[in-house]
Amino acid sequence: MASDQMYLMYDGLMLPCETHSTESLEFAREFTFKDDDVLVVTYPKSGTIWMQEILPLLLNGGDLTPVLTIPNWDRVPWLEETRMALVVDQLPSPRAFVTHFPYQLLPASFHTSKAKVINVLRNPKDVLVSSYYFHQMASFLEDPGTFEEFMEKFLDGRVLFGKWTDHVKSWKNTELGDRIMYVTYEEMVQDLPAALRRMSDFLGRNLSEEVIQKIAENCSFKTMKANNMSNFSLVPKQYMDNDRSHFLRKGITGDWKNHFSPEQLARFKSAIEKELEGESFSLPWSLD
Ligand code: A3P
Repeated sequence: MASDQMYLMYDGLMLPCETHSTESLEFAREFTFKDDDVLVVTYPKSGTIWMQEILPLLLNGGDLTPVLTIPNWDRVPWLEETRMALVVDQLPSPRAFVTHFPYQLLPASFHTSKAKVINVLRNPKDVLVSSYYFHQMASFLEDPGTFEEFMEKFLDGRVLFGKWTDHVKSWKNTELGDRIMYVTYEEMVQDLPAALRRMSDFLGRNLSEEVIQKIAENCSFKTMKANNMSNFSLVPKQYMDNDRSHFLRKGITGDWKNHFSPEQLARFKSAIEKELEGESFSLPWSLD
């Protein structure tokens, strides 16, 4: 399939037609947020499905029923995707959503509500590697070409949801104050219970240590990889080919070291630094 048939362009961003439509984007832009909604914001490949596992458990006190019975995309739907309109009325309260939208695309109701946001950030070098493999296994995405070619597309923003740096900048420069919490994928890999405690406090949940440990065990890479409601095994092979790569692929930090040449590292670092020049925030990882 030609790439112009695979993607629709929306506000300068490339979105896959398989999961997005003009109607779904309109639905997102007109959606009415409630004060107790929780929205997880990620650039693709930064830990979205991990949060689709974590959030229902944090919000319901560790009841495993939703993660064992509802596919991740219906359990915590993407605000902008076509499934959203179909499942939103069945979501328990408080509702949880994920989005890859940049800040400026959120609907007016979000800004007037008190809905909270958790923004998960991942080292862009590992995001690039994860995305490279995802493009190989997902037939509804353009073939990534060589790693070198894919890196250029990534740096130019000719990939899903545009430039990583634009996404990060949009969510770092909000006026959300204490409505937004930032967490890194690396922090979650290093000490998931600690990250869960931080999220639980932010969401005003008073979870016991026992519940935190239970959630951490059920959201481990190994448990999620074995959970058919979360590992995308329900998706037909013609859309996602697990023989090429798994959605839950490695779940580690630093896999970029197995993929970047020294020249690619220098190129990547300088391109990202240039995009972030003059910004008032600093990244939580070194780009070296
Ligand atoms: P890798 O391809 O590096 O393994 P997203 O959900 O935003 O598309 O992100 C997918 C990435 O998150 C994949 O990274 C996937 O393995 C990782 N991931 C998902 N669940 C995880 C978990 N429980 N622990 C660690 N990594 C996880």
